[in-house]
Amino acid sequence: MYRTHTCGALRLSDVKQEVTLCGWVQTVRKFGSITFVDLRDRYGITQLLFHERLNERLTETPLGREYVIQIKGEVCERSNKNTKIPTGEIEILVHDFAIMNVAQVPPFTIEDNTDGGDELRMKYRYLDLRRPVLKRNLELRYKVNRAVRNYLDTQGFWDIETPFLIKSTPEGARDFVVPSRMNEEQFYALPQSPQTFKQLLMVSGYDRYYQIVKCFRDEDLRADRQPEFTQIDCEMSFVEQEDILQTFEGLFKHVFHEIKGSNMTEAFPRMTWDDAMWHYGNDKPDIRFEMKIQNLKVKQEVFCDTLNHTDFKVTQEAATVLAISVPGMAEYTRKQTDELTEWVKRPQIGMSGLFFIKCNADGSFKSSVDKFFDATQLREIATFSKAEPGDLILLLAGSEERTRKAMSELRLLMGDRLGLRDPNHYKPLWVIDFPLFEYVEDESRFVARHHPFTAPKPEQVNWLSLPEKYEHIKANAYDMVLNGTEIGGGSIRIFQRDIQEQMFAALGLSKEEAQEKFGFLLGAFEYGAPPHGGIAFGFDRLCALLGGQESIRDFIAFPKNNAGRDMMLDAPSVLDDNQLIELRLK
Ligand code: AMO
Repeated sequence: MYRTHTCGALRLSDVKQEVTLCGWVQTVRKFGSITFVDLRDRYGITQLLFHERLNERLTETPLGREYVIQIKGEVCERSNKNTKIPTGEIEILVHDFAIMNVAQVPPFTIEDNTDGGDELRMKYRYLDLRRPVLKRNLELRYKVNRAVRNYLDTQGFWDIETPFLIKSTPEGARDFVVPSRMNEEQFYALPQSPQTFKQLLMVSGYDRYYQIVKCFRDEDLRADRQPEFTQIDCEMSFVEQEDILQTFEGLFKHVFHEIKGSNMTEAFPRMTWDDAMWHYGNDKPDIRFEMKIQNLKVKQEVFCDTLNHTDFKVTQEAATVLAISVPGMAEYTRKQTDELTEWVKRPQIGMSGLFFIKCNADGSFKSSVDKFFDATQLREIATFSKAEPGDLILLLAGSEERTRKAMSELRLLMGDRLGLRDPNHYKPLWVIDFPLFEYVEDESRFVARHHPFTAPKPEQVNWLSLPEKYEHIKANAYDMVLNGTEIGGGSIRIFQRDIQEQMFAALGLSKEEAQEKFGFLLGAFEYGAPPHGGIAFGFDRLCALLGGQESIRDFIAFPKNNAGRDMMLDAPSVLDDNQLIELRLK
């Protein structure tokens, strides 16, 4: 037997026991003739005490950091107790030890506050994963996985695997492709999600399906995006949107209960996509704080009358003028407002400037546009912007889309500065009634906002043959948003062949193209497809949020960097000639 206990197991009640432990050497500290070693494994850290009797052996074969050792010894009460760790009241008086493997000096310290930079840690990910913080993240991930499976099991869902070597499924990203050796010049695509398969499973009658499954998307990476990521992918038959929202709200409440011990009793709020865009400037509003956007002028239509009575060119010429009132920030200095102006001018935000009105506590106003608005007009804008004395009103003017997006970002920035975005405060939200289509200016065509299998609202199905109506068609599509992050999205699906064909046509696919790409699905719809719908959650994102962090990377054992590289494997890499010839790529 290698060990009797783990390094996290022993307590005061175990004193006098003879034990055998195995683990990695965290630190070695010599005090005169005795040596203390912290021994670490997945379960914790235990202090070892080597008496001078073992000095000769320790001098012969000194213990180094990250050596793997086995020790035998007696559990003793510590005189100098450490209240910060569960094993802190005891130590092991070592009688005997064996070095099971030596280790090179690690390139960074194996501690939460490590001195290793990102790239170095990624290269030696197997060492990085020894740090307690990553261990806690992976433990959380495992527990979320288990909670999800338990809940879905009680609801009658079956976990059914679907293939990875498939034909392209459009989810809005680029495919990763795999050449086929046996089929010359032909390629598989890796699934962007199991979307069409789960729909086919509904046709087969497996009416509650789920999978915790890898998805592959070749898209630009960010903190919350990886080229291969994991979804909790679900589909149900004979359901309406309401059934799906209820079922998966239940999943969330269960997961929160299991992981956070919190009882979410209230129904999750719901917001239409139109309202989300109007009040928050994006479709994943962070509702942990208010600070709603006020719409003074939208797409040339003036809502705040004051703007009709000014010579201020900026608001006159802009299509859209938006404001937020930032509570208690009227005291911002010139330097601070200048810095905000620079912030909105950054290329990622793309505005040409910002103007502001300070609502002083005494009821007076001071603004960057005093030349163009008198006190009465400033008061009118302040009233329209729902500002209180002490607030700082920030205004942006420009083209509709850019201004709305910029204001949404500015709102989040001010929320951060006011400490209103506490990662341990969770505010879930359903965003519903998404538009079915999105117009892509560059390509002068409509694309599916969710994916081409999403059903229009039943009363608008007929509009699929009326292109002038496309921008007004709403879908039975919904997203779950948590603290400003989209953690899940889904829809009620089209299940009739003729409607699916109309949808493909609306997206600019000819009958032949539709048949070539999706013949299998159209065919299946002719053999008794039930009404169905589903949803998929970003599992990595959910874990990161539950861990109170934004980046999903540290919740994935072996992630890619922002350039899509695995630094440890040094992948992707070139293939040797033989492989290329075999695949007929050379
Ligand atoms: P969607 O494309 O919205 O829907 O994806 C579902 C959820 O997956 C997460 N996600 C990602 N997480 C990490 N890295 C990525 N690159 C990434 N891309 C998406 C998000 C998102 O909400 N088949 C449909 C679902 C359905 O209709 O049932 C789908 O894949 O949290």
